[in-house]
Amino acid sequence: MSDQTITSVSREHRVFRPSAEFQRQANLGSYSAYKKLYAESVNAPEKFWTRQGKELLSWRKPFKQALRWKLPHAKWFVGGQLNVAENCLDRHLGTARENKAAIIFEGEPGDIRTLTYKQLHREVCRFANVLAKLEVSKGDRVAIYMPMVPEAAIAMLACARLGAIHTVIFGGFSSEAIKDRVNDCQAKVVITADGGWRRGKVVELKSNVDRAVAATPSVKSVVVLKRTGNPVTMTEGRDLWWHDLVAQVPAEHKARGFDSENPLFILYTSGSTGKPKGVLHTSAGYLLGTTITSKYVFDLKDTDVYFCTADIGWITGHSYVVYGPLANGATVLMYEGAPNQPGPDRFWEMIDRHGVTIFYTAPTAIRAFMRWGDDHVKKHSLRSLRLLGSVGEPINPEAWMWYHTLIGKKRCPIVDTWWQTETGAIMVSPLPGVTPTKPGSCTLPFFGVIPKVLDEAGKEVPRGSGGKLFLKSPWPSMLRTLWGDDERFKRQYWSELPGYYFAGDGARIDEDGYLWVVGRIDDVLNVSGHRIGTAEVESALVSHPSVAEAAVVGRPDELKGQALVVFVIVKTGIEATKELREELRSHVAKEIGSLARPDDVRFAAGLPKTRSGKIMRRILKEIAAGGEVKGDTTTLEDFSVVAALQAQEE
Ligand code: PRX
Repeated sequence: MSDQTITSVSREHRVFRPSAEFQRQANLGSYSAYKKLYAESVNAPEKFWTRQGKELLSWRKPFKQALRWKLPHAKWFVGGQLNVAENCLDRHLGTARENKAAIIFEGEPGDIRTLTYKQLHREVCRFANVLAKLEVSKGDRVAIYMPMVPEAAIAMLACARLGAIHTVIFGGFSSEAIKDRVNDCQAKVVITADGGWRRGKVVELKSNVDRAVAATPSVKSVVVLKRTGNPVTMTEGRDLWWHDLVAQVPAEHKARGFDSENPLFILYTSGSTGKPKGVLHTSAGYLLGTTITSKYVFDLKDTDVYFCTADIGWITGHSYVVYGPLANGATVLMYEGAPNQPGPDRFWEMIDRHGVTIFYTAPTAIRAFMRWGDDHVKKHSLRSLRLLGSVGEPINPEAWMWYHTLIGKKRCPIVDTWWQTETGAIMVSPLPGVTPTKPGSCTLPFFGVIPKVLDEAGKEVPRGSGGKLFLKSPWPSMLRTLWGDDERFKRQYWSELPGYYFAGDGARIDEDGYLWVVGRIDDVLNVSGHRIGTAEVESALVSHPSVAEAAVVGRPDELKGQALVVFVIVKTGIEATKELREELRSHVAKEIGSLARPDDVRFAAGLPKTRSGKIMRRILKEIAAGGEVKGDTTTLEDFSVVAALQAQEE
């Protein structure tokens, strides 16, 4: 076994085919049609994207050329002009969609508000007028730090309408994080709220903004939405109420067309080291990428009620709560709060009440639902669902099967969508009416995407072997640069192997050409010369009936290079005993071979996660090595988890 590849240990062989019924009604329902379109998209990309660009978007001025590619800088739809907000709203006016719900909002306390396309359009126009009055124009940066309420989407779309650049900062981030991001992009305006509801409590957004803005000289105005009625301090001359501002402006706004490559937003994402990266997306290519994937991967229809649980602070919230679905004229359910408020069945209860047809969530959430117990699910019919999606990390087959059986009632296809903040839109995923699925695999590439799994020398690894995941050739929704740091952009994504985009993930392609992502390369374990993906060991652990969640890290070991340390959360009602510890070691050895037998099994009450639910293995590594937790912990959801793990050590 060479040190250059990743040993792949997964033994998943189950295959699930789309039902004839789903296939018949799908936006794309035949494998041969997919094959043909895919072949065209990679062999004649200019032709393919020219047609899609014309068909799926509304242009103010037609583009001349689909792509101008000067590696690593791409320009898509050169010479064209459009307005992103018009594509999401105005073009549905005067059609049958005009009075259908664009956003159905449900607050955590249970308040419900529906905005039709016509109403949403009016609100966006009003707010665009407000921003214009605050002297926001094309190219200016606007920071949005808000709860999951319709006004967050309204603020984003109003920026887009003006050609301004939004940067949404997740509402769970601290004032430090706001300060760094606002200073990095020099935002002129910050939009926030007097709070948002989360687990029955008010999240104090405004006071975080106050602390941050004390050290951000670029900010001239702070717009504050009244959501909770929580008292806030308003600074004269700087802070303004949303409701006062919108009352003073008309609900009509004449939009302009902007260049295809006009920046649409910056979204900061944490790297494994150093300061957050400001991923820059532009207008036409991003909009096309999110529109076409929404249409085919989510199979969106006018009759759907589509529920994506991601916060708009993440790329999933940008691409698949706001831009993609609205450009398709879909009805989006937006929920403000926690999935277990007031009870662990909140989502299932909402799905029944709103008649949700498409549900898109993350494996970390699915594992939490599993831990809370099946009874909470069984209380609800979930009859309306027809399609399920997963995103954010590899979904372990155990969770996939649970999702398929308990939520999808074995009836709904599951689309396991692999993509990144940087890719803007879904890159690898089943098409629900086309692709036979295998639990744990994100399956086949979307149109125009050429994934390659390569070894250190840049050679393709044999089918079934692991390596690093690259994308060959540009795609419309790709990041254009990192804000203010083009050198880092080149170094980070385009230097690993000249000519290829480096995704930073480990993966393998199986004998059917299916892609299996095994986790971030930084997290790959090296045990006695075997490189093993964390996802596979974790998946083996979670397949044990007592285990709810697991995280695996390496600890430096003189003999083996790395010893395997696993952190395990047991299911409710299970006792964490010495016997169970031994049983789990043998279980992993049995499931994937003795090379992966954990050296150390530690029971934990919680795992350190980012606020988007990704396990921070870097922190676990430090704990496993018995050291102090160093480095940036500002993206950590709950620091007490780390304290508890460390206390266990002593
Ligand atoms: O490691 C992959 C994992 O999440 C990373 C991207 O994270 P982020 O930029 O926060 O975007 C998340 C939402 C798109 C990827 O490099 N990842 C995401 N989706 C999957 C996944 N890993 C395996 N399977 C997926 N479906």
